[in-house]
Amino acid sequence: MNKKKLVFSGVQPTGNLHLGNYLGALKNFVSLQKEMNCIYCVVDLHAITTFQNPNQLRNNVLETVASFVATGLNPSKSIIFNQSAVSGHTELAWILNCISRIGWLNRMTQFKDKAGSDKEKASVGLYIYPNLMAADILLYKATHVPVGADQKQHLELSRDIAQKFNNDFNCKDFFPLPEPLIPKNVSRVMSLRDGNKKMSKSEESDYSRINLKDSADEINKKIKKAKSDSDQIPDNLKDLEKKPEALNLVNIYSEISKSTLEKVLNEMSGKEYSFLKKKLAELLINEIEPVGKEIKKLLGDKSHLESILKKGKEKANIIAEENLKNIREKVGLI
Ligand code: TYM
Repeated sequence: MNKKKLVFSGVQPTGNLHLGNYLGALKNFVSLQKEMNCIYCVVDLHAITTFQNPNQLRNNVLETVASFVATGLNPSKSIIFNQSAVSGHTELAWILNCISRIGWLNRMTQFKDKAGSDKEKASVGLYIYPNLMAADILLYKATHVPVGADQKQHLELSRDIAQKFNNDFNCKDFFPLPEPLIPKNVSRVMSLRDGNKKMSKSEESDYSRINLKDSADEINKKIKKAKSDSDQIPDNLKDLEKKPEALNLVNIYSEISKSTLEKVLNEMSGKEYSFLKKKLAELLINEIEPVGKEIKKLLGDKSHLESILKKGKEKANIIAEENLKNIREKVGLI
């Protein structure tokens, strides 16, 4: 195991995780666990930047841990904990609020999307959310951050903040500049109803996404109903790219079948999309249904999930406190 490389990533506990989270992030989390030290955080403080029902939030935190474990994360290999349990995240976030620039935050497209047309009514937390994300990563001096493409801009901001801290306090290389690890074809899994929107927990129609807890029957129905194209499957990527919904299905199929897009097009060109959908539903059921069953099973033993969080928090806290000591010293805090 390479001691210098350290992976950190976070997932918001805002309900059902879906195929986008799975292909864009969780699958990578699991494969990285084999080669590097990894820290995976349930970011409850990020979740409360928009109102969360407290009971639901508590359940969602445990469900996110269950989803981590069900997809293959091993709590004795990777550190798994919830963000609010390690107070260093908020302390460093404050310090970084003083490093980060308003102009930098004003460029964040996710804030613009989430705040909608009435920005005056968005919480201050939602606005400075990317600084907290930088704190999550830099608190552990993480070098690699597996995320989907929607987090790329936030990662770039984290790098800018790290760089400015290193310059301001004259400590070159104190914070490593974290590198995003973004999957190639499934960096942005799109909605099954609209190929121009990303698959998300917040989209109203449940038919827009495959949830990790969906039954075989639900997966089948959703893929059957997914928007595709009335033409046959083309033999080249250029034509496929003109049809975003069709491209999304082919991308998902290529990822799950561990085949290249070219190979999939070779195999499928000239066929109807119903042919692809049937095969895709089979593959997805094979891969996702056992994960969903395992999540439900794990949720039956909440004290086990809580003990994973407790052990994770203890391990995370040791690294966080050690780094914070040095950070306070650099800044001049006594
Ligand atoms: P969150 O909770 O929205 O999503 C968790 C992870 O899933 C990825 N993802 C997707 N990937 C591909 N296609 C999609 N449709 C899709 N939807 C979601 C996200 O890119 C993410 O990797 N701000 C982060 C959480 C966070 C974090 C961090 C991540 C907080 N601190 C530090 C990395 C490092 C978020 O809201 O992710």
